[in-house]
Amino acid sequence: MEKGASFGLFRCCMLFAVIPILFPYHCQGNWMWLGSTASGITEKMGCLGLPLSNKQKDLCKRKPNLLPTIKEGARIGIYECQNQFKHERWNCSITNDYSVFGYELTSGTKESAFILAVMAAGLVHSVTRACSAGNLTECSCDRSRQSGGSADEGWHWGGCSDDIQYGLAFSRKFIHSSEKPSSPDLAGEKEARETMILHNSEAGRQAVSKLLSVNCRCHGVSGSCAVKTCWKTMSSFDKIGQFLKEKYEHSVQILDRSKKKVRRKDKVQRKVPVNRDDLVHIKKSPNYCVEDKKLGIHGTRGRQCNRTSPAADGCNLLCCGRGYNTHVVRHVERCDCKFVWCCYVRCRRCETMTDVHTCK
Ligand SMILES: *[C@@H]1O[C@H](CO)[C@@H](O)[C@H](O)[C@H]1NC(C)=O
Ligand SMILES: *[C@@H]1O[C@H](CO)[C@@H](O)[C@H](O)[C@H]1NC(C)=O
Ligand SMILES: *[C@@H]1O[C@H](CO)[C@@H](O)[C@H](O)[C@H]1NC(C)=O
Repeated sequence: MEKGASFGLFRCCMLFAVIPILFPYHCQGNWMWLGSTASGITEKMGCLGLPLSNKQKDLCKRKPNLLPTIKEGARIGIYECQNQFKHERWNCSITNDYSVFGYELTSGTKESAFILAVMAAGLVHSVTRACSAGNLTECSCDRSRQSGGSADEGWHWGGCSDDIQYGLAFSRKFIHSSEKPSSPDLAGEKEARETMILHNSEAGRQAVSKLLSVNCRCHGVSGSCAVKTCWKTMSSFDKIGQFLKEKYEHSVQILDRSKKKVRRKDKVQRKVPVNRDDLVHIKKSPNYCVEDKKLGIHGTRGRQCNRTSPAADGCNLLCCGRGYNTHVVRHVERCDCKFVWCCYVRCRRCETMTDVHTCK
């Protein structure tokens, strides 16, 4: 196990040595790896054996009960990335090494902006859920609203609201404790990338915050709803993923050399403010059409596409105009099932043929 892990680290560092535009510090650690299926062995590795920065390891040692929650946050982040991008040319496929997302983790494109946001949001979501479930000693659900509400309008706050403040603070602290890049030759670009990490991680957290919704329950004689009790809950994580996907579509390109401050690259629009919940990127994305082993881009050859769809999953767009192959796939299933007295079900075997299209 140990050997496999250190080999992964080695491979990651090799990758980073080959491609100098990447952040150097992900060699030392990338907490996102905790969410990949390869991390099943972490129970035995302890905090020190994990691919975390020194500060994160300290945090992990001080609060070992948080580790499963961090893993869960990383897991839902990775899952949601793949879910949102399953029909796109870039489908958020993951690698075997600690970088998890390979080139895209640090490419500076809007794909890496999405990754940063969805992973930070995953951490907020999972920590907050653990708080509400009473699994953590550091936090619980929010009963502070109990006295508020609006009696005149016949409702009041009650019960257990999701308290995302602890989750937000934890996500900030944990992600900001990533190793800082150390090579001075990257100074300008390094700063822009640092800005990108901070901004997009925060945008992810803001998404969780923005999508808090209010649930209410009625009380009163025979469901008359004379009194309502309301509490706040987080949206399901796929809603948050969907929100971030929209932000990704409108990601703002920012200046590569902007010092800390986020400035639009587009001169005409420079006065238009960049909101806290906007995603930002510094590099244009490649088209992801053809394989580029060096960058870890798979290309879309062999991807299944939809012949009639005008959207991203359509053969036209997904295959980048190269065309597609069609093969017939035979499905056998039970059909025309009838209940026979008494007591069994009799079915026929039906065969259906479907055309499956894959990109050339
Ligand atoms: C993404 O696409 C590649 C082919 O380009 C495929 O091998 C892989 O299974 C896909 N991954 C996901 C998560 O859909
Ligand atoms: C709370 O802890 C229990 C027992 O360890 C676990 O099964 C459950 O998934 C946890 N729930 C959350 C939301 O963390
Ligand atoms: C293909 O796309 C069309 C149009 O968007 C849609 O109606 C159809 O359900 C899709 N087919 C599959 C197999 O996803």
